Amino acid sequence: MAHALKKLSAQVIKNNNLESIISNAAVRTNSTWWGNVQMGPPDVILGITEAYKKDSHPQKVNLGVGAYRDDEGKPFVLPSVRKAEEILHKKGLNHEYAPISGEASYTDAVAKLAFGEDSPVIKEKTNCTVQTLSGTGALRLGLEFITKHYAKNKEVWFPAPTWGNHPQICNMLNLPHKKYRYFDSKTNGFDLEGALEDICKIPEGSIVMLHACAHNPTGVDPKPEDWAKLSQVIREKKLYPFFDMAYQGFATGNVDNDAFAVRLFVKDGHQVTLAQSFAKNMGLYGERAGALTFLCGDADHAAKVMSQVKIMVRTMYSNPPLYGARLVQEILLNPELKQQWLVDVKSMADRIISMRTQLRAGIEGAGNKHPWQHITDQIGMFCFTGLKPDQVERLTKEFHIYLTKDGRISVAGISSKNVNYIAEAMHKVTC
Ligand SMILES: Cc1ncc(COP(=O)(O)O)c(C=O)c1O
Repeated sequence: MAHALKKLSAQVIKNNNLESIISNAAVRTNSTWWGNVQMGPPDVILGITEAYKKDSHPQKVNLGVGAYRDDEGKPFVLPSVRKAEEILHKKGLNHEYAPISGEASYTDAVAKLAFGEDSPVIKEKTNCTVQTLSGTGALRLGLEFITKHYAKNKEVWFPAPTWGNHPQICNMLNLPHKKYRYFDSKTNGFDLEGALEDICKIPEGSIVMLHACAHNPTGVDPKPEDWAKLSQVIREKKLYPFFDMAYQGFATGNVDNDAFAVRLFVKDGHQVTLAQSFAKNMGLYGERAGALTFLCGDADHAAKVMSQVKIMVRTMYSNPPLYGARLVQEILLNPELKQQWLVDVKSMADRIISMRTQLRAGIEGAGNKHPWQHITDQIGMFCFTGLKPDQVERLTKEFHIYLTKDGRISVAGISSKNVNYIAEAMHKVTC
């Protein structure tokens, strides 16, 4: 009997071991904690760059990526940024944590750049400005703050079309979003009437996202008189303007001109929210220097908003990175460097404007009968060419020119060496 029991219990132990071996093997081979995760679509722009890299054609061109390139097609480090790097290096600074909201000298300097040195915002300290992880981080933090603290209608209205990441951020936050008319495909320009008509119908208190300058992806900006009408209707309908300013200086080559819309809205009494980026206008793409400002009406409310923004930042990334912000600060606070930077920004904008002129002249010079004036009317880094998806496909397949399906090209990817090739190809796919 005892022997039989011993044999049985040995068998049970063996079976249990076997079971656990089998189930462990199952964990290792078949199952995962992430079994419910579906494959997501690749980022559209990065996908284009991947395809471009794989192409071995000697005349291939990448017009997809939204980063400035010099006339050799190379990434450009601004001379003012190089100087600032040298100065910082000599200072031998330490690597302590930055304050949660960023260094005050940085946030003061970037607010002045956006709103103007003499702005009542600056004098009366009605702004809550924090350093963010570039423009995307500012949008994310701003919209997340809205989901938590904004008491009115939490509905965000974007121009149609808008930067692809805008709706994605809202989706991540479960923030409802809709579109107002913006681009007129018949004129390849701004649809003022459509925009005003749609904005008039937006429910009170909703958030209206506005590209401050150099609209991405269309390159179409409202004229000063259009901005005045937009400001009026947004105020009358009690809507909340949120500006995304990722290209200050890139549109006209002048940072004050490009801040026109933001400053006009402030003058008209709007309490705007503003996302700023120094990726493009200082070429600091990877350094992630940006800022988020809430205008709060008075210094007391600004302090309260700041206290809550800090709590939100603390739980996300504790405090922002130092290096890019130090470069920005060095440039904005050193009069000589700032002067150099203004020249650098203008040189980038001028090269883009000159490429627009040459591209249009090249297409028209080839005898193309379609209107191409929009290439030079549009502004900033991007041009909405009006090319249809099948024409875009031909450009890529036959001419090895890479761009997004909606016909957007990054003018910064055009150079004096490839402009004729691109013009000829655009002529051939549209004639
Ligand atoms: C309209 C717009 N907003 C914000 C950004 C944010 O850029 P970053 O996060 O690199 O500053 C971009 C960049 O392409 C943009 O085009």
